[in-house]
Amino acid sequence: MIENFEKRILCIGAGYVGGPTMAVIAQKCPQYKVTVVDINPDRIARWNSEKLPIYEPGLDDVVREARGRNLFFSTDIEEGIRESDIIFVSVNTPTKTFGAGAGMAADLQYWEKTARQIRECSGSPKIIVEKSTLPVKTAQAMKRILLASDKKNHFEVLSNPEFLAEGTAVQDLEKPDRVLIGSDETVSGLKARNDLVEVYANWVDRDRILTTNIWSSELSKLVSNAFLAQKISSINAISALCEKTDADVSEVARAVGMDDRLGPRFLNASVGFGGSCFKKDILNLVYLCRYYGLFEVADYWESVVRINDYQKNRFVFNMLACMFNTLATKKICLFGFAFKADTGDTRESPAIFISRKLVEEKAELIITDPEALENAKTDLQDIEGAVRYELDPYAAAEGSDAIAIMTEWKLYSDLDYERIYQSMVKPAFIFDGRNILDHRRLFDIGFNVYPIGKPPLTHFDDQPEICQE
Ligand code: NAD
Ligand code: UGA
Repeated sequence: MIENFEKRILCIGAGYVGGPTMAVIAQKCPQYKVTVVDINPDRIARWNSEKLPIYEPGLDDVVREARGRNLFFSTDIEEGIRESDIIFVSVNTPTKTFGAGAGMAADLQYWEKTARQIRECSGSPKIIVEKSTLPVKTAQAMKRILLASDKKNHFEVLSNPEFLAEGTAVQDLEKPDRVLIGSDETVSGLKARNDLVEVYANWVDRDRILTTNIWSSELSKLVSNAFLAQKISSINAISALCEKTDADVSEVARAVGMDDRLGPRFLNASVGFGGSCFKKDILNLVYLCRYYGLFEVADYWESVVRINDYQKNRFVFNMLACMFNTLATKKICLFGFAFKADTGDTRESPAIFISRKLVEEKAELIITDPEALENAKTDLQDIEGAVRYELDPYAAAEGSDAIAIMTEWKLYSDLDYERIYQSMVKPAFIFDGRNILDHRRLFDIGFNVYPIGKPPLTHFDDQPEICQE
């Protein structure tokens, strides 16, 4: 078949970023051929099926429109590299678990393998786009690997970090706050940067396409995530103080967020932030600062992660203290397991930490979530304790002593809590780790209600003093 595409775009890595990003590029630019490749054949098979490997609102429609027309999913990485003009690299960059920098630095082994593979399979000049989140100066390493060859192909490396959030990926990609493209400021670097600007300009206003030097681009991604997470840790830290002072964290967040300089978003106090990136990217930033001898700066950012751990621990201690200092054999139902609503992703979800802690206390867990049960089972497969999984929240809550809200799925605000209360052991407890429920109404039904950063509403005479490690 003769293909008349204007450009051939390849993306290596068909994950939460590679899949949706390329699907939107293909949808918006039918004149380009877009191919997504991965080493994982099951993932590719699912991208080619009716049940996509990730749950993301609106994504099915985008994929259905473009797949087979100009969007293709394949395991043939070498052929993909050979025929492409622009290669996005969107492989995973997890925290290193071994050797120097273990627990902090980015593990760049997948990244480096990809660079070598691109070098070996290329027969023509290519633009290589860093889509994965990477430490500053990775582009330099990439270039060194690409150029260490007898073949004299020209490679230009660009940084184009992704800012989409899961659950809103399609709308974030269709209408991004900004697209950031970093390049070398050489003639060929600027030309490659311009070629990528032209791709996005098919649907993004040019004044939202920001171009910078390559190091600013790499660093801006880590800093954006660090600032977002810092906002959450700030309000979570204040939620602990609210609980001591009878202030209400939602009222405080509203008052603070109405200042335009601070803004209302990312001020929802919670059981803690999760997701595959915040912790990983902050630790990566911390590692970079230490590497360059900036110890005070490193400590400052590390405290964002420390407060997040504190918040998760606090949640479990609170449950323990409020339920008469023993959870052994009590049935606790977790409403939600995903790290946020509208996704099935559970990576670094606070629910994982809390499940493990509750099982250590010998509680029996019943976990419900509309999209994340498959991942939850994998996350907890090694756990030695009683854990049951239920799709139906009413069946999950039946016979339990307590409900803990882990994920802010809208469906949990709309349930019939009168019915749920009737089916539970008394006294019945609700710990709202997301502050999404109508606490006064639950109290009136008979529940003892424990929000985050607000006075609890209970039918007991006195409140327990919460001990913290
Ligand atoms: P992911 O784990 O969902 O996907 C990565 C994919 O790369 C996997 O399917 C894996 O099989 C594949 N892969 C690994 N090595 C490969 C190789 N050598 N050849 C081909 N395929 C290979 O990860 P993700 O969530 O899509 O994240 C990818 C990158 O994007 C990370 O650096 C992450 O920090 C960044 N990021 C993620 C998000 C998000 O919301 N998840 C948002 C912005 C940026
Ligand atoms: C985050 C960023 O928002 C994206 O811009 C970035 O591209 C992405 O990380 C990444 O680099 O991976 P994501 O993790 O998908 O996106 O989701 P967020 O909406 O940022 O939520 C992260 C966590 O913070 C969730 O657990 C969420 O429940 C929690 N959160 C968020 C709060 O506890 N309170 C808030 O006010 C907001």
